[in-house]
Amino acid sequence: MNAIQISNTDLVQISEANGRVGSVSLVGAGPGAADLLTIRAVKALEHADAVYYDSLVDDSVLAFVNPKARQIFVGKRKGFSAMPQQVIQDKMRDDALAGNQVVRLKGGDPFIFGRGGEELSDLRSQGILVKVIPGITAAIAAAAEHGMPLTHRDVATSVTFVTGHTLDGTIPELDGLVSSKRTLVIYMGVSNAGKIVDQLRGGGVSESTPVAVIERATLPDQRLIHTTLAALVADIDLHDVVTPALLVVGNVAALSLPDVDTLPPVHTIPEPSAPFAWVHHAMG
Ligand SMILES: C[S@@+](CC[C@H](N)C(=O)[O-])C[C@H]1O[C@@H](n2cnc3c(N)ncnc32)[C@H](O)[C@@H]1O
Repeated sequence: MNAIQISNTDLVQISEANGRVGSVSLVGAGPGAADLLTIRAVKALEHADAVYYDSLVDDSVLAFVNPKARQIFVGKRKGFSAMPQQVIQDKMRDDALAGNQVVRLKGGDPFIFGRGGEELSDLRSQGILVKVIPGITAAIAAAAEHGMPLTHRDVATSVTFVTGHTLDGTIPELDGLVSSKRTLVIYMGVSNAGKIVDQLRGGGVSESTPVAVIERATLPDQRLIHTTLAALVADIDLHDVVTPALLVVGNVAALSLPDVDTLPPVHTIPEPSAPFAWVHHAMG
């Protein structure tokens, strides 16, 4: 990994010297597994001069970065705070003004709880060319990985993605987002699970509503825990759930394929000899 420090003056001089037009691409890195990157994302990484990346970006994804590119970690690591958002934006602006092809690599999709919108408008307002390359957001990948169709016909007619962790520490209004035919997927909800359960209970959601906790989806050590609204907090404790993890609430959360951890890689999957069946997990 090249952790090169470069001053703004140097950047401007480089820009004047090479006369190139720089840009910033907000690129979705997907949920973790590198083979879930889009082809467009891989091309952007291969042609980047500088890549600014977050904590949720797996090393296997960084392996696609142009070996000559600068890789700049701007996320949060244990014991250290993340680089302030404005500082990241200013650094990317200066890098692009210097004529560089800058990639801002974000976990999942840049526009789903990823602050991509802030970066897009800040950079655009300063005249920087900004492109957006979508990524597979964690909810979609986690559900697919475990064979949990978020809008399975006859089980759910809608799905809502919500954050369980807002800037001011409160949780958003969840009233009406879970019902017998609605699926709720909560990002960043593990640390606020107690408050989430209280709010859903208060809104009349049944204690026996199925909940799935999906941890580190698509990574080799991913886990799926089936529980209920009543048992969610105790199960998070019992299984020592770590971040990143999602909570899926609603009837589809009781579905999953039984053998996800034992399946061979996709390209070697043989034709199924018998129709597969979902396991419906009994909620106790
Ligand atoms: C700041 S949000 C970023 C979401 C990202 N932009 C996306 O589209 O997936 C981070 C949260 O996404 C969820 N998340 C991201 N990657 C995940 C994964 N591989 N497995 C489970 N949850 C994940 C977790 O809830 C985590 O706390």
